[in-house]
Amino acid sequence: MGVVDEVKERLDVTDFIGRHVHLKKSGRSFKGLCPFHHEKTPSFYVFPETQTWHCFGCGRGGDIFNFVMEYEGLDFRAALAELARQAGVELKPRTPEQQQAETEAERLLKLLAAAAEYFHQLLLSAPQAETARAYLARRGFVDETIRTFRLGYSLRSWDALRTHLTAMGFSVSELLKAGLLVEKENGGTYDRFRDRLMIPICDRRGRVIAFGGRVLHPDDKPKYINSPKTPLFDKSSVLFGYHLAGRAIREQDAVVIVEGYMDVMIPHQAGFKNVVAPMGTALTEAHLRQLQRLTKRFILAMDPDAAGIHAVLQGLEVARKTLDRELAPLFDPRGLIGYEGRLGAEIRAVTLPDGLDPDEIILQSPQRWQDLIANSQPIVRFYFEQLLQQENPHEPKGKARIVDAMLPLLADIADNIERDAYIQEIALKLGLDVRTLDERLRTRERAAAVRRQAAAHSPEPAAQGRDVEAHVLAVLMHYPELLPDVDAALIAEDLQPVQKEDFGGMYRYIWDAWLELDEHPEWELHDLLPVEMVQQVEAWLAAPLPEHSPEQWTRDVVLTILRMRRQRLSELITRLSALISEAQAHGDWTGSQHAQAMIDLSRYLGQVQSALARVGQGLQITLAGEERS
Ligand code: GTP
Ligand code: MN
Repeated sequence: MGVVDEVKERLDVTDFIGRHVHLKKSGRSFKGLCPFHHEKTPSFYVFPETQTWHCFGCGRGGDIFNFVMEYEGLDFRAALAELARQAGVELKPRTPEQQQAETEAERLLKLLAAAAEYFHQLLLSAPQAETARAYLARRGFVDETIRTFRLGYSLRSWDALRTHLTAMGFSVSELLKAGLLVEKENGGTYDRFRDRLMIPICDRRGRVIAFGGRVLHPDDKPKYINSPKTPLFDKSSVLFGYHLAGRAIREQDAVVIVEGYMDVMIPHQAGFKNVVAPMGTALTEAHLRQLQRLTKRFILAMDPDAAGIHAVLQGLEVARKTLDRELAPLFDPRGLIGYEGRLGAEIRAVTLPDGLDPDEIILQSPQRWQDLIANSQPIVRFYFEQLLQQENPHEPKGKARIVDAMLPLLADIADNIERDAYIQEIALKLGLDVRTLDERLRTRERAAAVRRQAAAHSPEPAAQGRDVEAHVLAVLMHYPELLPDVDAALIAEDLQPVQKEDFGGMYRYIWDAWLELDEHPEWELHDLLPVEMVQQVEAWLAAPLPEHSPEQWTRDVVLTILRMRRQRLSELITRLSALISEAQAHGDWTGSQHAQAMIDLSRYLGQVQSALARVGQGLQITLAGEERS
């Protein structure tokens, strides 16, 4: 028996969830208020017989591991470690290579923790840190915030840190590896951070993995020095403040994304704790994916000229070049809207008053910040309003330019109703006929559909029976590049993209871990999954797949996922109707509150079935066409 099963055997899902959610017995199951979305009447159920849980309100569900992952925002490995500890199950020892990599990582973490502590103590009490303390006071920092973020100060010295840490037993090569020293051409080294305010950058578990160092004298350059890429730190995926923001993000079901360190720390100090920032890099899907465990509502509060308003008009490249930073935090609005569709996310943006950063706004007036956040705009409208300010909407040419800039964004909106609403809004504001706009959009879409159709081919008959989930995973792991096409095909049917709920048990952990690897190219599957699951994945990757075109495989995966969903939905419907009749038999009419969930599930099932028919039929038509040629 693997560790996972052992943990499941020892921990009861009802007891466990019952410690976090107030559960009431209801027939053979238990129900309570869902901890993952707001509701007034309970639609969150725990099923002791299958040791699973499901919320008929928000659709989340799974086993005890999935609960811990969702509830604590952990990845599978961390959830396993936590539950194994609670169950008193010992985790298998790792392979020698893993152990070595792990020991090395642990050493680096210890080293960075020691460095952070050293800098922190200097800031708190060294006479040389007086300027730094005065600077922080001027920027509005109170002592508690300095402690919470463990801010520090690096001495104006070429070797103070090296001397301190080597005396503690760390080697120069470890210090180099951790990014704290810079190597000279002659082979010597010197401290990377000198006379700077030191801001520790932590991983999701709050362990220091890097530093940002800010200048204290306005004439020094560059303003910030960050740790280089190390085995622990890759700035493209880290979010500053995540470890302190997680709880607030989930409680408020929203995350505010800002640009800089200061814009995270000062809001936190003022009680706005659901705030994180990328590391001065572009905001990417990898960032959003990490947050998506906690919320699907993203609010971007980035400075207007850095945040890509130019990007819409001038193209990303130009905007990137006009900014004098190493890499400006630009986001591509189309990317974001596509992301909203793929993940059912909601992305909003805040217009910051000219020249003010979030920290300055909050120090002036917390209320003003709250109002700004409350008045955030959906990303599509945000861009539209920016365009209205940059172009002349009363001039025919200006109108045309605005429409052309908006069309690609509109085309990316997955929800038809939402899209229509925006078309009407834009037409009204520009004084254009809705049909004109609609027609333009359709022309674009027809072109896209033709391209898609040309790509569609006959698939392998999708796998049948119990192994379908394994089949989908095996194909997607062989051909990860297919995922965007699979997602696009599902979205074209008005369905959710591939989501973790499509998989159960072990397969879901594997899927989660696989996605995680996208964000952390430096990680290995071994870091995330127990040995037996890694072996499963390795077996899939080692087994050759039959020869098919990418289009065929895309179809195959789409069909298989649709069948999996049909199966899962039928099961949920059966389960829900049992719950309803059970409740009624006990004279408990609250069962009727599930009517809406029943309608939703049935409607969704209907949608899946017609998608299956359409995709299947599309297949025959293509086949017939091929035979003729
Ligand atoms: P203050 O200027 O002190 O308010 O800091 P800030 O955090 O608000 O900085 P700013 O808005 O200028 O920049 C946002 C983020 O971009 C920073 O937090 C850094 O992560 C990054 N950044 C800014 N300037 C530099 C730089 O000179 N070098 C590097 N590597 N990153 C920078
Ligand atoms: Mn700032």
